[in-house]
Amino acid sequence: MVRNPVIVGTGSYVPENVVTNCDLEERVDTSDEWIRTRSGICERRFCSDDKSASDLAVPAGRAALEDAGISPDAIDLVIVPTATPDMAFPSTACALQDRLGISSAAAFDISAACSGFIYGLSLAHSQIKAGVVENVLVVASELYSRVLNWEDRTTCVLFGDGAAGVVVSNQPDSPTNGFDSLYIKADGENRNILTLPAGGSAVPLTPESVEKNEHMLAMDGRAVYRIAVRKMKSSALRALNRADMGPDEIDWVICHQANTRIIESVRKRLDMPKEKMIINLDKYGNTSAASIGIALDEARREGKIRAGDKVMMVAFGGGLTWGAAIVNLPG
Ligand code: UT7
Repeated sequence: MVRNPVIVGTGSYVPENVVTNCDLEERVDTSDEWIRTRSGICERRFCSDDKSASDLAVPAGRAALEDAGISPDAIDLVIVPTATPDMAFPSTACALQDRLGISSAAAFDISAACSGFIYGLSLAHSQIKAGVVENVLVVASELYSRVLNWEDRTTCVLFGDGAAGVVVSNQPDSPTNGFDSLYIKADGENRNILTLPAGGSAVPLTPESVEKNEHMLAMDGRAVYRIAVRKMKSSALRALNRADMGPDEIDWVICHQANTRIIESVRKRLDMPKEKMIINLDKYGNTSAASIGIALDEARREGKIRAGDKVMMVAFGGGLTWGAAIVNLPG
């Protein structure tokens, strides 16, 4: 029987604490108007100081399991895409596995920054296709509030905290394919334009690296913007090509929620009607690997995305990494 990975459940979690652009005006030299017009962001959520990535991943993962109607025991692989893990190791995925009572699974984190959700889906898909596992829990979880450099006003106003999960299961009897296409790619040559330099083996945490804020997020916004527009467009076209589909066959597009100007540019290139674009970065800012999953889950729970809809997801992030997926949500 043909193995058929399908997204059978979604879940997400954002912290309650809302931080508006006006709140940020009190912390850095910025304005609500600048942030809105340059990025489309109005507010974001920040965790309290006692929380970590796994604390956000637990409710998101639990919601995805409940939505899928699957017991934790049935999960045989846990993948956590994150750029802000609890710690270097053990993985946040191992903490999540333990805390959700997933008794017999492999677990690991993946590092693909904002493209992590698409990379995670791609891994889940291929592990199921290969016959290695039956049910995978992918939960992207990010706490960028921990790594924002408040002396870099161009970058610190863009990010927020949140987590989002999906359960991907083998459904050979499903009448449709769970995935029409997947595409992931990277360009390590440009890895230095979006980075968290210190804290690893290259630049260990020392009083000097901390003093220079090297343990905080650093981004060349303009350079990232230029490449993001190009690569998100080409990823979407590649995914459509691989599925032998036209843009008119897609019901919804979810781009990585980084900047409304980037999303608008991708939309125009695909000649996609505005109504098909799912956008929520006004409320949450850029939640990196979690952004696509939060938008997917929210749109499903609002009844916007329905069973049987074809959804194209397009991502871009540090690495540089990028990719796209076209999925069918099960009926
Ligand atoms: O998830 C990872 C993917 N990341 C992204 O997709 C980010 C991509 N990049 C961007 O979204 C945009 O480049 C930014 C939103 C980061 C910046 O927008 P921009 O239009 O490229 O602004 P800029 O860096 O060219 O700065 C324009 C002006 C400068 O002033 P002058 O030199 O023109 O007088 C900055 O000093 O805006 C000033 N500025 C600010 N003003 C108020 C920079 N940051 C701020 C700020 N508030 N927070």
